[in-house]
Amino acid sequence: MDMQKFEKELLSYIPNVREEMKTVVSSIEYSLSAGGKRIRPFLTLEFAKLCGGSEENAMPFACAVEMIHTYSLIHDDLPCMDNDDLRRGKPTNHKVFGEAVALLGGDGLLTLAFETVLSERAVELNGYEKCVKAGRALAKYAGVNGMIGGQMIDLESEEKAVPLEILQVMDENKTGALIASACVMGCISAGASDEQIKAAKNYAMDIGIAFQIVDDMLDVTSDTATLGKTVGSDRENNKSTYVSLLGLDECRRISIELTEKAVESLKAFEGDTEELKKFAYYLCDRKK
Ligand code: IPE
Ligand code: IPE
Ligand code: MG
Ligand code: MG
Ligand code: MG
Repeated sequence: MDMQKFEKELLSYIPNVREEMKTVVSSIEYSLSAGGKRIRPFLTLEFAKLCGGSEENAMPFACAVEMIHTYSLIHDDLPCMDNDDLRRGKPTNHKVFGEAVALLGGDGLLTLAFETVLSERAVELNGYEKCVKAGRALAKYAGVNGMIGGQMIDLESEEKAVPLEILQVMDENKTGALIASACVMGCISAGASDEQIKAAKNYAMDIGIAFQIVDDMLDVTSDTATLGKTVGSDRENNKSTYVSLLGLDECRRISIELTEKAVESLKAFEGDTEELKKFAYYLCDRKK
Protein backbone atom coordinates (compact mmCIF):
# COMPACT_ATOMS: atom_id res chain seq x y z
CA MET A 1 0.00 0.00 0.00
CA ASP A 2 1.22 3.50 -0.78
CA MET A 3 1.21 4.79 2.81
CA GLN A 4 1.91 8.41 1.98
CA LYS A 5 -0.94 8.49 -0.48
CA PHE A 6 -3.25 6.94 2.10
CA GLU A 7 -2.26 9.40 4.85
CA LYS A 8 -2.83 12.33 2.51
CA GLU A 9 -6.17 11.10 1.25
CA LEU A 10 -7.33 10.28 4.78
CA LEU A 11 -6.85 13.87 5.94
CA SER A 12 -8.30 15.28 2.70
CA TYR A 13 -11.81 14.21 3.73
CA ILE A 14 -11.79 16.39 6.83
CA PRO A 15 -14.15 19.25 5.97
CA ASN A 16 -13.47 22.95 6.36
CA VAL A 17 -15.55 24.49 9.12
CA ARG A 18 -16.04 27.97 10.42
CA GLU A 19 -13.77 29.29 13.15
CA GLU A 20 -16.27 28.68 15.97
CA MET A 21 -16.37 24.93 15.14
CA LYS A 22 -12.64 24.36 14.80
CA THR A 23 -12.01 22.57 18.11
CA VAL A 24 -13.83 19.41 17.09
CA VAL A 25 -11.88 19.32 13.83
CA SER A 26 -8.64 19.68 15.81
CA SER A 27 -9.73 16.72 17.93
CA ILE A 28 -10.41 14.67 14.77
CA GLU A 29 -7.10 15.66 13.18
CA TYR A 30 -5.22 14.89 16.38
CA SER A 31 -6.32 11.26 16.52
CA LEU A 32 -6.35 10.60 12.77
CA SER A 33 -2.78 11.81 12.32
CA ALA A 34 -1.40 10.22 15.50
CA GLY A 35 -0.23 7.17 13.53
CA GLY A 36 -1.51 3.67 14.08
CA LYS A 37 -0.69 0.57 12.14
CA ARG A 38 -3.37 1.19 9.47
CA ILE A 39 -4.08 -2.51 9.24
CA ARG A 40 -7.73 -2.10 8.23
CA PRO A 41 -7.10 0.21 5.24
CA PHE A 42 -4.25 -2.07 4.18
CA LEU A 43 -6.72 -4.95 4.06
CA THR A 44 -9.25 -2.94 2.05
CA LEU A 45 -6.65 -2.13 -0.59
CA GLU A 46 -5.18 -5.65 -0.69
CA PHE A 47 -8.56 -7.31 -1.17
CA ALA A 48 -9.46 -4.81 -3.86
CA LYS A 49 -6.31 -5.71 -5.78
CA LEU A 50 -6.74 -9.43 -5.16
CA CYS A 51 -10.22 -9.32 -6.70
CA GLY A 52 -9.07 -7.43 -9.78
CA GLY A 53 -9.81 -3.89 -8.60
CA SER A 54 -7.47 -1.00 -7.84
CA GLU A 55 -6.03 0.75 -4.80
CA GLU A 56 -7.21 4.05 -6.20
CA ASN A 57 -10.86 3.06 -6.38
CA ALA A 58 -10.84 1.41 -2.96
CA MET A 59 -9.04 4.33 -1.29
CA PRO A 60 -12.19 6.18 -0.04
CA PHE A 61 -13.43 2.94 1.55
CA ALA A 62 -10.00 2.38 3.13
CA CYS A 63 -10.15 5.90 4.60
CA ALA A 64 -13.67 5.33 5.91
CA VAL A 65 -12.79 2.18 7.83
CA GLU A 66 -9.81 3.91 9.45
CA MET A 67 -12.13 6.76 10.50
CA ILE A 68 -14.52 4.33 12.17
CA HIS A 69 -11.61 2.55 13.83
CA THR A 70 -10.14 5.82 15.12
CA TYR A 71 -13.50 6.94 16.48
CA SER A 72 -13.87 3.59 18.25
CA LEU A 73 -10.49 4.12 19.94
CA ILE A 74 -11.34 7.67 21.07
CA HIS A 75 -14.54 6.44 22.68
CA ASP A 76 -12.95 3.21 23.98
CA ASP A 77 -10.39 5.30 25.90
CA LEU A 78 -12.94 7.57 27.61
CA PRO A 79 -13.14 7.45 31.42
CA CYS A 80 -16.60 5.84 31.21
CA MET A 81 -15.16 3.06 29.02
CA ASP A 82 -11.56 1.82 29.49
CA ASN A 83 -10.29 5.05 31.06
CA ASP A 84 -6.92 5.13 29.30
CA ASP A 85 -4.47 8.03 29.12
CA LEU A 86 -2.19 7.01 26.28
CA ARG A 87 -2.96 6.04 22.68
CA ARG A 88 -0.65 5.72 19.70
CA GLY A 89 2.14 7.04 21.88
CA LYS A 90 0.29 10.25 22.71
CA PRO A 91 -2.14 11.42 25.38
CA THR A 92 -5.63 10.16 24.60
CA ASN A 93 -8.05 12.50 22.87
CA HIS A 94 -10.00 13.35 26.02
CA LYS A 95 -6.75 14.07 27.89
CA VAL A 96 -6.01 16.80 25.35
CA PHE A 97 -9.45 18.11 24.43
CA GLY A 98 -11.62 17.08 27.39
CA GLU A 99 -14.32 14.42 27.47
CA ALA A 100 -17.06 16.40 25.75
CA VAL A 101 -14.92 17.32 22.74
CA ALA A 102 -13.54 13.76 22.53
CA LEU A 103 -17.12 12.51 22.41
CA LEU A 104 -17.92 14.94 19.59
CA GLY A 105 -14.66 14.15 17.79
CA GLY A 106 -15.61 10.47 17.81
CA ASP A 107 -19.13 11.28 16.62
CA GLY A 108 -17.63 13.47 13.90
CA LEU A 109 -15.38 10.67 12.66
CA LEU A 110 -18.25 8.19 12.66
CA THR A 111 -20.38 10.40 10.44
CA LEU A 112 -17.41 11.46 8.31
CA ALA A 113 -16.81 7.80 7.47
CA PHE A 114 -20.21 7.56 5.78
CA GLU A 115 -19.81 10.96 4.15
CA THR A 116 -16.59 9.54 2.67
CA VAL A 117 -18.10 6.26 1.43
CA LEU A 118 -20.89 8.23 -0.25
CA SER A 119 -18.70 11.14 -1.39
CA GLU A 120 -18.64 12.38 -4.97
CA ARG A 121 -15.11 11.07 -5.25
CA ALA A 122 -16.12 7.59 -4.05
CA VAL A 123 -19.06 7.56 -6.47
CA GLU A 124 -16.92 8.79 -9.38
CA LEU A 125 -14.47 5.95 -8.75
CA ASN A 126 -16.88 3.15 -7.88
CA GLY A 127 -20.38 4.10 -9.01
CA TYR A 128 -23.46 4.46 -6.80
CA GLU A 129 -24.17 0.79 -6.45
CA LYS A 130 -20.79 -0.19 -5.00
CA CYS A 131 -20.84 2.82 -2.67
CA VAL A 132 -24.25 1.80 -1.33
CA LYS A 133 -23.05 -1.77 -0.84
CA ALA A 134 -19.88 -0.61 0.90
CA GLY A 135 -21.80 1.82 3.12
CA ARG A 136 -24.26 -0.89 4.02
CA ALA A 137 -21.46 -3.31 4.96
CA LEU A 138 -19.63 -0.69 7.01
CA ALA A 139 -22.78 0.33 8.88
CA LYS A 140 -23.64 -3.26 9.67
CA TYR A 141 -20.20 -4.29 10.91
CA ALA A 142 -19.65 -1.10 12.90
CA GLY A 143 -23.14 -1.21 14.42
CA VAL A 144 -24.98 -2.97 17.22
CA ASN A 145 -24.67 -6.34 15.50
CA GLY A 146 -20.95 -5.69 15.09
CA MET A 147 -18.42 -3.53 16.85
CA ILE A 148 -20.86 -1.75 19.15
CA GLY A 149 -22.40 -5.05 20.21
CA GLY A 150 -18.94 -6.42 20.91
CA GLN A 151 -18.06 -3.39 23.03
CA MET A 152 -21.33 -3.96 24.90
CA ILE A 153 -20.33 -7.52 25.79
CA ASP A 154 -16.88 -6.20 26.77
CA LEU A 155 -18.42 -3.76 29.26
CA GLU A 156 -20.82 -6.35 30.65
CA SER A 157 -17.93 -8.78 31.09
CA GLU A 158 -16.01 -6.67 33.59
CA GLU A 159 -15.65 -8.04 37.12
CA LYS A 160 -16.96 -11.50 36.24
CA ALA A 161 -15.95 -14.84 34.78
CA VAL A 162 -17.27 -15.21 31.25
CA PRO A 163 -17.39 -18.52 29.30
CA LEU A 164 -15.13 -18.93 26.29
CA GLU A 165 -18.01 -19.01 23.82
CA ILE A 166 -19.09 -15.52 24.93
CA LEU A 167 -15.52 -14.23 24.73
CA GLN A 168 -15.41 -15.49 21.17
CA VAL A 169 -18.63 -13.68 20.28
CA MET A 170 -17.24 -10.56 21.97
CA ASP A 171 -14.00 -10.61 19.98
CA GLU A 172 -15.74 -11.48 16.70
CA ASN A 173 -17.90 -8.44 17.13
CA LYS A 174 -15.73 -5.83 18.79
CA THR A 175 -12.69 -6.50 16.59
CA GLY A 176 -13.44 -9.08 13.88
CA ALA A 177 -16.43 -7.22 12.49
CA LEU A 178 -14.60 -4.01 11.58
CA ILE A 179 -11.74 -6.01 10.09
CA ALA A 180 -14.37 -7.91 8.07
CA SER A 181 -15.85 -4.63 6.85
CA ALA A 182 -12.38 -3.57 5.67
CA CYS A 183 -11.90 -6.76 3.65
CA VAL A 184 -15.46 -6.81 2.31
CA MET A 185 -15.36 -3.18 1.16
CA GLY A 186 -12.18 -3.93 -0.78
CA CYS A 187 -13.96 -6.84 -2.46
CA ILE A 188 -17.00 -4.66 -3.20
CA SER A 189 -14.87 -1.97 -4.82
CA ALA A 190 -13.44 -4.63 -7.13
CA GLY A 191 -16.84 -6.11 -8.00
CA ALA A 192 -15.95 -9.44 -6.36
CA SER A 193 -18.27 -12.47 -6.41
CA ASP A 194 -20.35 -13.59 -3.42
CA GLU A 195 -17.99 -16.54 -2.94
CA GLN A 196 -14.99 -14.23 -2.81
CA ILE A 197 -16.75 -11.98 -0.30
CA LYS A 198 -17.56 -14.97 1.84
CA ALA A 199 -13.94 -16.16 1.82
CA ALA A 200 -12.75 -12.64 2.66
CA LYS A 201 -15.13 -12.59 5.63
CA ASN A 202 -13.83 -15.94 6.88
CA TYR A 203 -10.22 -14.76 6.60
CA ALA A 204 -11.12 -11.50 8.36
CA MET A 205 -12.98 -13.08 11.26
CA ASP A 206 -10.14 -15.50 11.98
CA ILE A 207 -7.36 -12.91 11.83
CA GLY A 208 -9.70 -10.54 13.73
CA ILE A 209 -10.17 -12.84 16.72
CA ALA A 210 -6.46 -13.67 16.65
CA PHE A 211 -5.72 -9.93 16.52
CA GLN A 212 -7.74 -9.27 19.67
CA ILE A 213 -6.19 -12.25 21.48
CA VAL A 214 -2.72 -10.91 20.63
CA ASP A 215 -3.84 -7.43 21.77
CA ASP A 216 -4.89 -8.95 25.10
CA MET A 217 -1.56 -10.83 25.35
CA LEU A 218 0.44 -7.67 24.65
CA ASP A 219 -1.52 -5.88 27.38
CA VAL A 220 0.16 -8.35 29.76
CA THR A 221 3.55 -9.03 28.14
CA SER A 222 4.58 -5.78 26.45
CA ASP A 223 5.56 -2.39 27.82
CA THR A 224 3.96 1.01 27.48
CA ALA A 225 6.76 2.54 25.37
CA THR A 226 6.60 -0.24 22.75
CA LEU A 227 2.83 -0.37 22.64
CA GLY A 228 2.09 3.36 22.74
CA LYS A 229 -0.75 2.60 25.15
CA THR A 230 -0.70 1.84 28.85
CA VAL A 231 -0.13 -1.85 29.54
CA GLY A 232 -2.10 -3.61 32.26
CA SER A 233 -5.28 -1.76 31.29
CA ASP A 234 -7.36 -4.95 31.06
CA ARG A 235 -6.34 -6.13 34.50
CA GLU A 236 -6.93 -2.69 35.96
CA ASN A 237 -10.50 -2.82 34.59
CA ASN A 238 -11.02 -6.47 35.54
CA LYS A 239 -11.77 -7.34 31.92
CA SER A 240 -12.60 -10.86 30.84
CA THR A 241 -10.28 -11.82 27.99
CA TYR A 242 -8.91 -14.99 26.43
CA VAL A 243 -5.78 -14.29 28.47
CA SER A 244 -7.56 -13.99 31.81
CA LEU A 245 -9.50 -17.19 31.10
CA LEU A 246 -6.91 -19.40 29.38
CA GLY A 247 -3.47 -17.95 30.08
CA LEU A 248 -0.74 -16.88 27.68
CA ASP A 249 0.43 -20.25 26.35
CA GLU A 250 -3.04 -21.37 25.32
CA CYS A 251 -3.66 -17.95 23.77
CA ARG A 252 -0.52 -18.27 21.69
CA ARG A 253 -1.65 -21.69 20.47
CA ILE A 254 -5.15 -20.46 19.60
CA SER A 255 -3.89 -17.35 17.82
CA ILE A 256 -1.59 -19.47 15.62
CA GLU A 257 -4.42 -21.93 14.92
CA LEU A 258 -6.75 -19.09 13.89
CA THR A 259 -4.06 -17.57 11.68
CA GLU A 260 -3.55 -20.89 9.90
CA LYS A 261 -7.29 -21.20 9.42
CA ALA A 262 -7.42 -17.67 8.00
CA VAL A 263 -4.67 -18.50 5.52
CA GLU A 264 -6.67 -21.57 4.42
CA SER A 265 -9.56 -19.30 3.45
CA LEU A 266 -7.31 -17.51 0.97
CA LYS A 267 -7.34 -20.66 -1.21
CA ALA A 268 -10.71 -19.53 -2.55
CA PHE A 269 -8.94 -16.77 -4.52
CA GLU A 270 -7.27 -17.25 -7.87
CA GLY A 271 -4.88 -14.30 -7.59
CA ASP A 272 -1.66 -13.94 -5.62
CA THR A 273 -2.47 -14.14 -1.91
CA GLU A 274 1.14 -14.11 -0.66
CA GLU A 275 0.86 -10.59 0.85
CA LEU A 276 -2.30 -11.45 2.76
CA LYS A 277 -0.76 -14.67 3.98
CA LYS A 278 2.34 -12.86 5.23
CA PHE A 279 0.13 -10.20 6.79
CA ALA A 280 -1.86 -12.74 8.80
CA TYR A 281 1.38 -14.15 10.26
CA TYR A 282 2.74 -10.66 10.90
CA LEU A 283 -0.40 -9.78 12.90
CA CYS A 284 -0.05 -12.95 14.93
CA ASP A 285 3.64 -12.34 15.72
CA ARG A 286 3.48 -8.58 16.14
CA LYS A 287 5.10 -6.85 19.08
CA LYS A 288 2.81 -3.80 18.99
C1 IPE B 1 -6.46 -1.46 18.68
O1 IPE B 1 -6.35 -1.58 17.29
C2 IPE B 1 -7.84 -1.83 19.11
C3 IPE B 1 -8.17 -3.23 18.90
C4 IPE B 1 -9.13 -3.60 18.14
C5 IPE B 1 -7.44 -4.27 19.59
P1 IPE B 1 -4.97 -1.39 16.55
O2 IPE B 1 -3.91 -2.20 17.26
O3 IPE B 1 -5.14 -1.66 15.10
O4 IPE B 1 -4.65 0.16 16.80
P2 IPE B 1 -3.79 1.18 15.93
O5 IPE B 1 -4.67 1.67 14.84
O6 IPE B 1 -2.57 0.49 15.42
O7 IPE B 1 -3.47 2.30 16.90
C1 IPE C 1 -10.95 -2.36 21.73
O1 IPE C 1 -10.42 -3.39 22.45
C2 IPE C 1 -11.79 -2.75 20.63
C3 IPE C 1 -12.49 -1.60 20.03
C4 IPE C 1 -13.57 -1.81 19.38
C5 IPE C 1 -12.01 -0.24 20.17
P1 IPE C 1 -9.41 -2.88 23.56
O2 IPE C 1 -10.08 -2.00 24.54
O3 IPE C 1 -8.63 -4.03 24.07
O4 IPE C 1 -8.42 -1.99 22.66
P2 IPE C 1 -7.18 -1.20 23.24
O5 IPE C 1 -6.30 -2.22 23.93
O6 IPE C 1 -7.72 -0.16 24.16
O7 IPE C 1 -6.51 -0.64 22.02
MG1 MG D 1 -11.98 -1.70 25.31
MG1 MG E 1 -9.27 -0.20 25.44
MG1 MG F 1 -6.56 -4.06 24.49
